[in-house]
Amino acid sequence: MKNNLICVLIGAPGAGKGTQAKNVANHFKCKLISTGDILRENVENKTVLGLEAKKYIDNGNLAPAQIVVSMIKNVIKSSIEKKDASDNNFLFDGFPRDLEQNKLFEQILAQLNLSIKAVIYINIEDDVVYERLTNRRVCPKCNRVYHLKFNPPKFDNLCDDCKVALITREDDKIDVIKKRLEVYKQLTEPLIEYYRKKNKVIEINGNKDAEEVLKDIISGINCAKQ
Ligand code: AP5
Repeated sequence: MKNNLICVLIGAPGAGKGTQAKNVANHFKCKLISTGDILRENVENKTVLGLEAKKYIDNGNLAPAQIVVSMIKNVIKSSIEKKDASDNNFLFDGFPRDLEQNKLFEQILAQLNLSIKAVIYINIEDDVVYERLTNRRVCPKCNRVYHLKFNPPKFDNLCDDCKVALITREDDKIDVIKKRLEVYKQLTEPLIEYYRKKNKVIEINGNKDAEEVLKDIISGINCAKQ
């Protein structure tokens, strides 16, 4: 097995995975792969994949495993071919999402002689999930994420960088958040237990402020690397 850094960010909707992902990937020079971002880009561009995935995303369900896994396989292979992942280090945000995806993912990694080093589990309470997601706003142009209380834009509802009006994600409506949380508990929590048994889980208290969460993730990954 090669000594690559392959990490997975996992946690409830709104746990702060997206907020942390870029900084963690920059710190460890990993190629960041976020299935939520890739799927939303496809929805935005009305690709065949996006049109199919939209039906699931809008209802708070997971997109079918075959679609997501083949998409991931292509992204990994093309990154390796283009050498845009330094030393083939990858950080996955929001993937794998359940045991079915994980089984296929492990097969792909094994074919490439790679394996997961650490699963970063950002843990937050259910009431924090609602508080985070109902106050989340995103820039439709650059995808920068804001929070109305904890990370507000400088000017009323405008992206600091693009100056365009911020939007609320379609799946951040209360009834869809409820469904996403149910799906998370039913399908993703068993995956966390699977990796706990393999001693791969680094549990992070996601209720702290974002900078402290980042420090905890970095020190957790540094320990896992040793
Ligand atoms: P995805 O985009 O992955 O959504 P999610 O997992 O539900 O996570 P979120 O993006 O909602 O939250 P986050 O943890 O990134 O939080 P954020 O950093 O934004 O997936 C969306 C949908 O796509 C899925 O429901 C599914 O349909 C589909 N999909 C995706 N991956 C799939 C897969 N593998 N298989 C099948 N389907 C898939 O933070 C939230 C808010 O809190 C922000 O406002 C932020 O500013 C704020 N915040 C963050 N951290 C803190 C902090 N420490 N303190 C205070 N505020 C904070």
